[in-house]
Amino acid sequence: MSQLIDNAVATTRRILTGLRPTILDDFGILAALEWQAAQFQKRTGIECVVNCVCARSEDCAKELDKPRSIALFRIFQEALTNVAKHSGASRVEIEFLRSDEEIVMSIIDNGRGMAKNRTDASIPYGILGMSERVDRLGGQISLDTPPGGGFTVTVILPLPANEEEET
Ligand SMILES: Nc1ncnc2c1ncn2[C@@H]1O[C@H](COP(=O)(O)OP(=O)(O)O)[C@@H](O)[C@H]1O
Ligand SMILES: [Mg+2]
Repeated sequence: MSQLIDNAVATTRRILTGLRPTILDDFGILAALEWQAAQFQKRTGIECVVNCVCARSEDCAKELDKPRSIALFRIFQEALTNVAKHSGASRVEIEFLRSDEEIVMSIIDNGRGMAKNRTDASIPYGILGMSERVDRLGGQISLDTPPGGGFTVTVILPLPANEEEET
């Protein structure tokens, strides 16, 4: 039994490292988002643009710790999958903003928006998974269907007051 569990753990670890694109480790979160956006556009034909909307644009390129980078990257992937699956959008825009206090990432599509008859009780796993990741990092997530149409996912992650100490 114990041998089986060891094997399972080793396999899981291998799969997880395999799934994490090394670009996240090598080039940081913004480059990883841009890379994923380009892949997505190529695969789906949906225009996909990442914009850094920081007051100081160099802030967007700052290094970010692993837990936050991975959470943002996974949320981004899930949100894009949803755009491809549910939105019918022709364009999706990502706004990435970093200040000293927080990171804000919005994924904004121009599709049909969330169906009106959805209730909280029926929220499936994807969005639940996003909120769990955000919760664990003390952040907030909001889903929005603006009157003008489309669907927006916004994630806000607080940054530690003293980054040097944590990373
Ligand atoms: N970009 C989007 N445009 C329209 N509807 C969306 C979008 N993203 C999510 N939704 C709606 O929210 C629901 C929940 O999404 P999710 O939790 O990821 O579950 P799943 O993708 O497995 O259906 C989807 O079934 C869909 O109805
Ligand atoms: Mg989904």
